[in-house]
Amino acid sequence: MRSLSVVRAAMEIGRPMPHTTMPLHLAPMAGLGHVAFRQVLARFGGYSLMVTEMASARAVIHENRATSRVFRWEERELPYLVCQLVGATPQDMAAAAQRVEAEGFAGVDLNMGCAVADITRRGAGAALLADPDRAVAIVEAVVRAVRIPVSVKLRTLPGRDVEGTCRLVRRLAEAGAAWVTFHPRVAPDRRTRPARWEDIAAVVQASPIPVMGNGDVWHPEDALRMRAQTGCVGVSIGRAAVAKPWIFAQIRGQITPHLGLYLETALAFVAALWEWNPPAQALQLFRKWLPYWCANFTYGHAMAKRLRQPTAQSALEAALREEFAFPPALAQSPNPLLIVG
Ligand SMILES: Cc1cc2nc3c(=O)[nH]c(=O)nc-3n(C[C@H](O)[C@H](O)[C@H](O)COP(=O)(O)O)c2cc1C
Repeated sequence: MRSLSVVRAAMEIGRPMPHTTMPLHLAPMAGLGHVAFRQVLARFGGYSLMVTEMASARAVIHENRATSRVFRWEERELPYLVCQLVGATPQDMAAAAQRVEAEGFAGVDLNMGCAVADITRRGAGAALLADPDRAVAIVEAVVRAVRIPVSVKLRTLPGRDVEGTCRLVRRLAEAGAAWVTFHPRVAPDRRTRPARWEDIAAVVQASPIPVMGNGDVWHPEDALRMRAQTGCVGVSIGRAAVAKPWIFAQIRGQITPHLGLYLETALAFVAALWEWNPPAQALQLFRKWLPYWCANFTYGHAMAKRLRQPTAQSALEAALREEFAFPPALAQSPNPLLIVG
């Protein structure tokens, strides 16, 4: 295997990025934004806040932090960690938010965007967009119940009703939301259709509270472009942060990525996964993350297929190193076919 430092020197890209102080958040992602991943991301810094994967409000009330798959964190994360809750009623959400506050989280984020049938069937996630009165009642109840900031993550109302979305955002603001994170896609789009940044601009215009823009930020330049085009106060990044956890530091001009970083990061991630989880669960989470990381490379499909074979931690580490024995070519942009989600 060629020495990593040689590879690193050969791949130094050195593209200067303007420094920026805008808020940058890790977007909530079920199955991806867990404590092991956040631990790897935290090494690079550059983010303002990380939002946890969604946690069921009903479960959070009784959840055992030591054994929960989702409601888990490190003490040192708390000043920068917002817990996202998903639930259907003001009572459930307010009670869960009180637990979140008591645990010391920096804030609580309310999920009004998840379109997965299991969630919407229960009247939670994106189902709240079709019931603005209940969405507002939830924010009012949570704001009454806690002193930490309460934010809302939402997407465009059904039928791409941007006007209705703006009306809802104004009502959420009146109810006491501190900011909203807006993902400009309607629920049936999932993530296969490009995010409509012009709808972020419309929501920014209408909103009395800060709007974090979200959707299709793949490169550091995209974050700056989204802010310039939409007027959003800051940017929330999901999939690109999974593929490149250093993207926040890169936006701030604090790091210049090199090829060796991809391997180092994958190895650090495997170590963190196996430290935090029993082996079977660690493997499951590794496989969930794998396509995002492989999307960085031109032959990512084949790489992902090979890396799905090993099951033991040591075999996986060896397989990852083997992929870099002959340095893989980086794709210009993460391959969307691997990660449309
Ligand atoms: C695997 C996956 C899981 C997600 N889980 C959540 C979630 O738990 N809560 C939420 O509000 N959004 C969730 N999202 C949506 C993201 O937060 C984000 O809105 C979306 O990926 C678009 O941003 P991006 O283009 O930067 O990835 C999820 C997205 C993905 C890909």
